[in-house]
Amino acid sequence: MISIKSSREIELMRKTCALASQTLVYIKDFVKVGVSTEELDKLCHDFIIANGAYPSPLNYHGFPKSVCTSINEVICHGIPTKKDVLKNGDILNIDVTTYLNKFHGDTNMTFLIGDVSDEVKKLVDVTYLCLREGIKQVRPGGRIGDIGAVIEQIAGDHGYGVVEEYCGHGIGREFHEEPQVTHVGIKGTGPEMKPGMTFTIEPMINLGSRHCKLLKDGWTVITKDGKKSAQFEHTILVTESGFDILTLRPDEPKNF
Ligand code: MF3
Ligand code: CO
Ligand code: CO
Repeated sequence: MISIKSSREIELMRKTCALASQTLVYIKDFVKVGVSTEELDKLCHDFIIANGAYPSPLNYHGFPKSVCTSINEVICHGIPTKKDVLKNGDILNIDVTTYLNKFHGDTNMTFLIGDVSDEVKKLVDVTYLCLREGIKQVRPGGRIGDIGAVIEQIAGDHGYGVVEEYCGHGIGREFHEEPQVTHVGIKGTGPEMKPGMTFTIEPMINLGSRHCKLLKDGWTVITKDGKKSAQFEHTILVTESGFDILTLRPDEPKNF
């Protein structure tokens, strides 16, 4: 069952999502060469707590930290650690989920560390474009498959691999709700989008093949070929006329 949020629930979704996006804005200044992902985790943790919320990943199915930090060939669910210190040329995704007033808000972005190669910058830019074009498919009467279809098309045009094992998801009172939002698909298929639905879109795009493997820690997902992977995520509301990006940051356009 896909839940339809009431106007009161939507107001609470707006608040938790605003805090999740503010956490990314806050952490941005600390993301630089020499910082460890454990330090970034602690800063995000303290910021979220200071704002009266709880970091949803912490203890979620045993996840040990408050945010996911995924460097270079790590696709998603990287665990912050003292040993992972950012180096010039790295890319880092920080995935923040907040739990505020009983609602979750989920967003992530990929940061460039120092001088990143043009090839990898392009991967990051196209991944963001995939998210934005996916979001533009959101409208009442549209189908969830419309989203994956455009993402698959754009990534494929660039010769990139789209990760299929991990998906976007409904979100609200639960961290992960129905529907599953795959990042590949066929236009006109899948569940129908209706006003009041809230879900994430979070494409993971690989420079090489789409294939991944799970490390022995049970969380960290890396590319099978060791090439870099990028991701961006927003929580989206289906409105009467289209969509609203609940985790939009001030540095992003509302539409494009
Ligand atoms: N925030 C991730 C998502 O976008 C989920 C992280 S689950 C965790 O769905 F346990 F790894 F934190
Ligand atoms: Co998510
Ligand atoms: Co997330």
